[in-house]
This record gives sequence, C-alpha cells and structure tokens, in this order.
Amino acid sequence: MASKNTQPLQGMEDIGGPEVYLWQSLEDTARRIFHLYGFSEIRTPIPERTGIFTHTIGDATDIVQKEMYTFEDRGGRSVTLRPEGTAGVVRYLMGLGQEARDARLYYMGPMYRAERPQAGRKRQFHQCGVEMVGDANYLADAECIALQLHLLEEWGLTDCNLLINTRGERGESEQIADELRNLLQPRKGELCDDCQRRLDSNVLRILDCKRRECQKVVDSLPPLTELMKADSREYFERLRATLKELGVDATVDPRLVRGLDYYAHTVWEITHPALGAQDALAGGGRYEIESGKNSLAGVGFAMGMERVLMALKSVGVEPDENEAASDVWLVSMGERALKANMALEQDLRYKGIACNMDLHGRSMKAQMRAANRSGARKVVIRGDDEIERDILVLKDMVSGEQFEVDSKSLMDRLLT
Ligand code: HAM
Repeated sequence: MASKNTQPLQGMEDIGGPEVYLWQSLEDTARRIFHLYGFSEIRTPIPERTGIFTHTIGDATDIVQKEMYTFEDRGGRSVTLRPEGTAGVVRYLMGLGQEARDARLYYMGPMYRAERPQAGRKRQFHQCGVEMVGDANYLADAECIALQLHLLEEWGLTDCNLLINTRGERGESEQIADELRNLLQPRKGELCDDCQRRLDSNVLRILDCKRRECQKVVDSLPPLTELMKADSREYFERLRATLKELGVDATVDPRLVRGLDYYAHTVWEITHPALGAQDALAGGGRYEIESGKNSLAGVGFAMGMERVLMALKSVGVEPDENEAASDVWLVSMGERALKANMALEQDLRYKGIACNMDLHGRSMKAQMRAANRSGARKVVIRGDDEIERDILVLKDMVSGEQFEVDSKSLMDRLLT
C-alpha cells in the first residue's frame, strides 16, 4: 500500500520499471548525436553557491525570485539546487580560462524549481542540454538549432515547431528596455499585476506574458527588432537565411524573449502540439555572462525530458515492457540443482547471457510462473535426476518446445 512515507516529495518522481529503459534509450541516442557534432559530456554538481544562479540567471527573473530551492549548508553558506544547467557549466568554463575557447559540452540530469506541480511541470525535472562557447556568430546559433532538431527527430519527434526571435546585442539591452518602458508606461493600468511590477524590474518579460489583457497591449507595440540597431537585425536575418539553407523551418515569434536574463541576440523555443499552448519542449539561445573580470559568450539549449516523454507518448512511443527481460531463466528442483544452477548462472553471465533464477527454493510451479513473468525466452530446468545424467531440460518459451540437452552443448543451444 502506498502511504505518504513511500512517496517522493510532491512534484518529484521515481523513475523505474519499463519507463527507465525508455529514458536510457533516449540518453543513448542523445550521446550518439552529440558525438556527431563534436560535443563531450560535463557533469557539474547539483548544488552550487546561490550567487552562481542569481548572478547568471538574473535577480529579477521568476526562477530567482520564486523558484529556487535555496538553503543554508552546515557552514552557514547559501546553497541552491541547480534550477538549470547553463550557470554551472559557465562557472566551470570560466575556471578553465583560455582552455575553454571553442568548448562544446553537453549535460543531462536533474534540475530543481519550486513551481506548482502539474502535467509537464515538476519540481525535480530532467534537462538534456548543450553549451557551445564562442563569440556571437549566427552560424554557431544555426548549428546549435540544427543539432537540437536532429536529436528530436532521432527521438521520434518530427512535428515540433521552432519559434525564434532576437533580443539584440547585449550592449543595447538597456536602451531597448528604456524604449519599451516609455511605450508601455502610458498603458500601465491595462497590464496584469505581475507585469505592472515587471515594468520596472524586467520589462522584456511583459512581451511574453500569457494573460489576455497584457497580450492586447503587447500586440500594439512595434516588433522588438524595430527598437534594435541595424547590426542586430542583420545578425538575425543572416541566422534565418542560414537556417533556411540547412532546411530548418523557423517561425519568427516577435514576442519571444525567454525568462533568463543572460540572453543576447538569438533566442528560441521548441513547442510540441501534445504539450498545450503553455509549455515548451525546449528552449535555448545565445548568451553573454560576466563574472568579475571574466566574461563568456556562447549559445546553447536545454530540453525538458519529462516533456519529451509526454510528446513521445502522444505519438505512440511507449516503454517496452520486455526491455528488462533476461535471456534465460534457471529453474532448480532441489538443493543440488540450486547450487549447480548458481554456478551455471555465473558462467552464463560471464559469457554475456543475461540470466536469473529463484534463490529461495520455491516450488517448480512458482519458479515457472516467475520465469514466465520475467519474459525470458528460454528456461533451463534441472533436478537431481538431470544432474546424475549430466543433462539439462531446455524449454523454449516462445514455441513451448521442451527437450533435453547435454551440458556441453547447452551454450550453443542458448545462443541460437
Ligand atoms: P528553460 O526554458 O528555463 O531554459 O528550460 C528548458 C526546458 O526545461 C523547458 O523548455 C522545459 O522543457 C524544461 N523545464 C523547465 N522547467 C520545468 C519544470 N518545472 N518541469 C518540467 N520541465 C521543465 C533553460 O533552462 C536554459 N538553461 C536553456 C539554455 C541552455 N539556454 C542556453 N543554454
């Protein structure tokens, strides 16, 4: 019986059973594709100094304001469970100095955000993402987007929508924010409470507020690109042309700004029809992050694995119940057979055959039931009589056929 004591925390999930094999297969595919594009894996710690996130993601963002799991460690230091992967990877890369030039890294693992849990929105969720270091270059942005779509396709998700936009150069973000503020100030009263606050702290976010009243105001604004320098517009146009050359369909969404402060130039999101209007399958963009005298520019993305799985379910991809099946199940009648089967089991495993058996001396019927449940395609049965005669009984669980084999030819029979 499931009780509160056996449940994980709200918004967090155990991932096991057949489902975990689907996760592993998605991860294997991701590793293979990342390798094709020259990326290697980085595993940064899950807890980091809180300042790493507040500084990188931005004090005024929803993540920093409302969603971080922050606590004091035993030494009184403020520590936060990573809400996303970029900040930790950038911290790591800054530590490498010059060596980080041209780094291409990927990561997979759990992230933490104290959000209200619902379908596709968890407090512990998993991201699969990449970071590609280098100064602003629309070719790199295009390569990164193409990689992401390639991976989604390999996973079996072909009906994704790519939405792109630009936030302009880092240096002009203040001026763009000022112009937006001037345009929005006279209509402040029409905005939702959150956006009225954002007018001072994070005016860009008003553009992608989902509330009807705010969208009405935003619709009357000129596109963000009109507030930008010609250079920024040209960068974006070149990116769009490159995506076209690569055969990537992109829809420009002039309202897309993304919820993290580090972005400059290109931002994008990937949506999938199965997830509804609110929730993106993945997000990414180009960024510039400063820390003391260091600064690092790059481009990257992260996909929410729980949402990828939801989208896959909607197109009929389900975990394979038999993925965990052993090749062979050993059935032992009596103490001698139990011991002999244990030795055989070890031998088979060393030879690469996945096998299993009952260790509790249960009845033949119970053992056959377990063999059946296990999904093993072959069952080896023996008792005292078979041991005396140096034979084993082999049952093919698919055809139902059963015959005796001598111990020397067992391996050949199991491998066919
Ligand atoms: P993000 O848009 O905050 O971007 O998150 C990326 C993806 O993580 C989302 O599109 C979504 O699929 C998933 N996700 C976010 N929050 C949750 C949640 N509570 N439950 C389930 N899934 C969630 C970033 O994190 C950036 N670091 C991406 C990036 C990398 N930009 C540049 N490099």
